[in-house]
Amino acid sequence: GTKLEAKSEIMEGEGERPKPSHSFLPNLHYKHLIFIVIFVSFLIPLSCGKKEQVGYGYTIRYVGVGEYGKLMTADLQLIKTSSIYGPDIRNLILSASLETKDRFRIRITDSYSPRWEIPQEIIPRKTHFPNRSPPENYQPPLENHFLSSPNSDLIFTLRNTTPFGFSVARRSSGDVLFDASPDPSDSGTFLVFKDQYIQLSSSLPVHRSSLYGLGEHTKKNFKLEHNQTLTLWNADILSAYPDVNLYGSHPFYIDVRSPDSDARVPAGTTHGVLLLNSNGMDVIYSGDRITYKVIGGVLDLYFFAGPSPELVIQQYTELIGRPTPMPYWSFGFHQCQYGYENISDLESVVSGYAKARIPLEVMWTDIDYMDGYKDFTLDPINFPLDQMKKFVNTLHQNGKKYVLILDPGISVNKTYGTYIRGMQADVFIKRDGIPYLGESWPGPVYFPDFVNPVGEIFWGGEIKIFRDLLPFDGLWIDMNEISNLITSPPTPNSTLDDPPYKINNDGTQMPINNNTVPATSLHFGNITEYNAHNLYGLLESKVTNAALINVTGKRPFVLSRSTFVSSGKYAAHWTGDNAAKWDDLAYTIPAILNFGLFGIPMVGADICGFVGNTTEELCQRWIQLGAFYPFARDHSNKDSIRQELYVWDSVAASARKVLGLRYRLLPYFYTLMYEAHKKGTPIARPLFFSFHQDIKTYKINSQFLIGKGVMVSPVLQSGVVSVDAYLPAGNWFDLFNYSNSVSTEVGKYITLDAPPDHINVHVREGNILVMQGEGLTTQAARKTAFQLLVVVSYGGNCTGEVFLDNGEEVKMGGAGVGWSLVRFYGVVVGNYVTFVSDVVNGGFAVSQKWIIDKVTFIGLKKDRTLKGYELYTRMGTKSSAKSGIRTSSVGHGQFVI
Ligand code: GLC
Repeated sequence: GTKLEAKSEIMEGEGERPKPSHSFLPNLHYKHLIFIVIFVSFLIPLSCGKKEQVGYGYTIRYVGVGEYGKLMTADLQLIKTSSIYGPDIRNLILSASLETKDRFRIRITDSYSPRWEIPQEIIPRKTHFPNRSPPENYQPPLENHFLSSPNSDLIFTLRNTTPFGFSVARRSSGDVLFDASPDPSDSGTFLVFKDQYIQLSSSLPVHRSSLYGLGEHTKKNFKLEHNQTLTLWNADILSAYPDVNLYGSHPFYIDVRSPDSDARVPAGTTHGVLLLNSNGMDVIYSGDRITYKVIGGVLDLYFFAGPSPELVIQQYTELIGRPTPMPYWSFGFHQCQYGYENISDLESVVSGYAKARIPLEVMWTDIDYMDGYKDFTLDPINFPLDQMKKFVNTLHQNGKKYVLILDPGISVNKTYGTYIRGMQADVFIKRDGIPYLGESWPGPVYFPDFVNPVGEIFWGGEIKIFRDLLPFDGLWIDMNEISNLITSPPTPNSTLDDPPYKINNDGTQMPINNNTVPATSLHFGNITEYNAHNLYGLLESKVTNAALINVTGKRPFVLSRSTFVSSGKYAAHWTGDNAAKWDDLAYTIPAILNFGLFGIPMVGADICGFVGNTTEELCQRWIQLGAFYPFARDHSNKDSIRQELYVWDSVAASARKVLGLRYRLLPYFYTLMYEAHKKGTPIARPLFFSFHQDIKTYKINSQFLIGKGVMVSPVLQSGVVSVDAYLPAGNWFDLFNYSNSVSTEVGKYITLDAPPDHINVHVREGNILVMQGEGLTTQAARKTAFQLLVVVSYGGNCTGEVFLDNGEEVKMGGAGVGWSLVRFYGVVVGNYVTFVSDVVNGGFAVSQKWIIDKVTFIGLKKDRTLKGYELYTRMGTKSSAKSGIRTSSVGHGQFVI
């Protein structure tokens, strides 16, 4: 029953001034208000006359174009009211602007009252549109108004119909990307604007549109299915439950288009759409329409032109911020469990890995290490400080790292230093004038307010005190949705605690206050939890990242459960509490691919499963897949059986094999991190990132790419020993056995053997992989010589690159730090493969003398004898291999990069 019923009442002229919104916008000045009033009174006499009896909606009264044709503003006036979900806001202002040649922004808000918008300090962006400043050139409404620029592919059309409509289309093909016009199936409604209910919808070309994104949800399919409601409201709900709202909110999607009938739109033409809004919402996707139903804020829509998937993510992360670089060590293997009992338990895990000769980079401790589950304390019996120090020092001596968990809830306990300092700093979220009392692992807790600038000082201070005691390397911030073990009663008659429109929280329209901090609670500056709820994890990530840089002086590693738009600037993410089940293994692929789209490329899922008991077979298949997650951590619940990789011989053998390959590929993963940091491009990518012309790739859920050319095709069911893998056109080589290759001229499904100890990982022709040797730590692997794997392509060049730095410098690349990016280009010329390397910044290579001691060529044609190869490096090294080598050849020599 969410349809709006249009009432027959007709609005005339100006209505009464809408009641001020509950929201708080700190930067509105008194003088603006005076200006607004003057401006509005100027409009009143001119605005009468439109009295058509039409469907619910708004009409245009004036349009203005400013900033040399880059900005358009329109005054909108309500035609009819509807009483459902509260009174309408009668006068709206729409602003549209081409912010860059690839980015279009449309913002619609109340003409008179400022409304909640994500503060600039939280997500910096171009300045807000002038709320009511008169455009340079103010015009009466014409039939249609257009906004475009000769160097942009996006065209905005404002339709002066009754009600009005707008669209964003592509200039090159005429393809309409977003079409906000009345929906015949919803009483002609496409725009509804009330204080606590905003609805906007667009039609979509159902057969040509493939949508991805709009998280966080557990999904069977990566491509969004038709006829579903996607709810965005951060909540501590097990990720084992498909389709319900989870820990993070990302109101962003990409739309990959298939060709139209006259083929003006090339396959794979992609654009992106962000609704920058932190309030709770339902997004209803029917296939031929997308409808946003949002319970606050403003409509602030961004369109990213692409036209490739990769470019869309570049343009998206240009706006929201590029992913933070991750330290080299974080690409090693991580081990955790909720329930490690004491230090000797931890020590036996470390030695279990060493004995089994399985790489272990990072040991983690969950809340077990704490004293009574209080942050920044150690259990004096099981994890005493002096022994923990020794344990961590030993890890460090052996090239390993240590990460621990922190939860936001601070135990209310008058003898607890952190609590005392928090109270002194007055840092906690309040309700009814006093700190809001919630409940978490330690019992009653208060939650620090990270909107408050004091929050950063408090949190950073506590981290510093604790780090001075125990030299941890990274931090894991959990429960930051905020998770609350109790649900407090709503404030009577509060439309914040009990808003008129019920989003589909937890799949059953649960109250938004369910197991979190009540919406009527207040942050610094009187910002309501209602508005800022979805931002908590982002804000905690930001302050934790800053605190770690401060105490370590090194590149920080922060893992956050809750995320929002731009969290990738500060943190990595794992997919939360999955179950140790085969379905959950499969769900991890769409989840990881989604976070790549959201600008959080460092993402993984609990390997072998979190809730329940895993099995030997599941764990074996899970490490085979998990070894290729960008972030690879084994983690399980308190009452689950132990599932370290050495527990079963078969799992241990698989772990050695797949982690062996992962560690050889570490330079590749790390270089992808650099690419992600510079351009936003995900590390783990859907197949259509490299093969967007191939429409069959759009629905692949069970395979993914690492970078542009390494494809992972895992087994995701029990008892299965083959996979039907989709292979896009080209020659593909098994990375575990180069002589195993598959070739196809057109993309097709091919059945590949996948016995229990094997996962299919292929590299495509045209790639040069820069690899190193194996090691039980990343530090050991980094000391081995480089090897190039050149996957020859007769159709064109082969390319590859490697980023080199010390792996822990706060900055990755850029001015003032030592780093190198070495690019390789290879081409077959006659009987030679000639390739050159090109160094973008030589500083680091020169000081380190990185050696390539082996070059392997695969993909050489059987009937073509390769006489040799030549490699030209920046250092002028040139070498040729022996002649007479055929399909696969290895050259040994020493090249200094
Ligand atoms: C939450 C986390 C989980 C952790 C547990 C105990 O459920 O998602 O990873 O083990 O809390 O801290």
